Amino acid sequence: MSSSINFPKGDFRGHDRQFIWHQEPDAELTEVGPGKPCGEYLRRYWMPVAMTDQIGDLPYRIRILGEDLLLFRETKGQLGLVHLNCAHRNMSLEFGIIEEGGIRCSYHGWKYSTDGTVLERPCEPPGSKLKEGTCIGAYPVVEYKGLAFAYMGPKDTIPPFPVYDIFDEEGDEMIPFLIESPCNWLQVMENAWDPFHTVYLHTKSVRTQFIDAFAELPKIEYFDRAYGGFYTNTRRVDDIIWLRIHDQMLPSFTQNGGHFPLPEESRYFTRCGLSRWITPVDDTHTMVIAWRHFRDGDDPRGLTNRDDVGYGKTDFYGQSSDRSYEERQRDPGDYDAWVSQGPVNIHKREHTGVTDRGVSMVRRKLRKLIRKVKKGENVPQVSDVFSGVIPTYGGDTMLRIPVQPDRDDDALIKEVALKVGEIYMAHDKYFGQERNVKLKAALQDYEKSWS
Ligand code: FES
Ligand SMILES: [Fe+2]
Repeated sequence: MSSSINFPKGDFRGHDRQFIWHQEPDAELTEVGPGKPCGEYLRRYWMPVAMTDQIGDLPYRIRILGEDLLLFRETKGQLGLVHLNCAHRNMSLEFGIIEEGGIRCSYHGWKYSTDGTVLERPCEPPGSKLKEGTCIGAYPVVEYKGLAFAYMGPKDTIPPFPVYDIFDEEGDEMIPFLIESPCNWLQVMENAWDPFHTVYLHTKSVRTQFIDAFAELPKIEYFDRAYGGFYTNTRRVDDIIWLRIHDQMLPSFTQNGGHFPLPEESRYFTRCGLSRWITPVDDTHTMVIAWRHFRDGDDPRGLTNRDDVGYGKTDFYGQSSDRSYEERQRDPGDYDAWVSQGPVNIHKREHTGVTDRGVSMVRRKLRKLIRKVKKGENVPQVSDVFSGVIPTYGGDTMLRIPVQPDRDDDALIKEVALKVGEIYMAHDKYFGQERNVKLKAALQDYEKSWS
């Protein structure tokens, strides 16, 4: 009888490794609530908190950085973002009445302005001893192209609202979307610092989810700046050297390449397909809030669809839980990668290597900045460097530079990537159409120097 049983062979170490179940998350980088070091750091930046098409004539309850908040539009159109509960006896203002200039609690009628000041206390008699200056917490809100942005940090460290060049480009239709994931913010954010996952998750693991050229291992160059920077993913596709350029502004603003160009012919300084922020809801829930960009010529194979972009959805593969569990198991996407790392990923269980350089780098940078805030110091803002519109780089450049008979091709690709990064940065001083024209001409000249 026992001869028919196959006993497995191998060095099974499940019991030896049970210690992993007792390991704790990296609190310094993952706890986002009020008073937590990472939470205080994240509160030093403007971040999107909602899509404005979700804010109707009723108060809109949201949760950001572990705080329960209420977003509302008073009847003249100004947005207010306030702490959820009334300062009188804590009824939730989600049941409040929106009026001109503010919101009124429906319990005893206290009225608040959009900055949280108490405007009226109708039930209190004249001469009431209720202290003047009572208020609810409120945060400043900026509304732009379908997104509401808030600043939730101390009043004295509020930075200028960062206006990136991409916010207003001719011929670019920007459509907002917002998708929530049940996991910590860092996992979602780090996905953009991990260019190598495109090779496997998006191409070789199951099938090509985007474009076949992603199967080639990219060469990465980081162009580091105090506020973040950008990196180039460079691949050779026959005679074309294709640079896919990602903006990475800390803590979470990223812009990737186009959706989805074909690296078959020369293209110069085409712009990003996505401008994206990662907004923590709390330690175990996170929102991707973004604009998808649609321009003529960006999508030669018709892989995109603007009708699929909006609240809870977007038009590119695997960004939400909208597919069946079986489909997600058979062909997982980004959402399945970051959510399945757990509610809060445990870094001690990871074994990171050379290709995780971006992830290691961003964790190091964040830790340094979080500690700065803890010591009472300021963090670098992109507005420290650029006083007006901020130049960005996200997008693609494709140069016809064939393999050179006398050159090592990896060294050549590195040289081209560094030079293209340099050319991009040399044009920071120009804006709009002038920058487009000059930068494209400089890239064309560089390409010609190889022919
Ligand atoms: S609880 Fe809001 S007015 Fe009394
Ligand atoms: Fe991805």
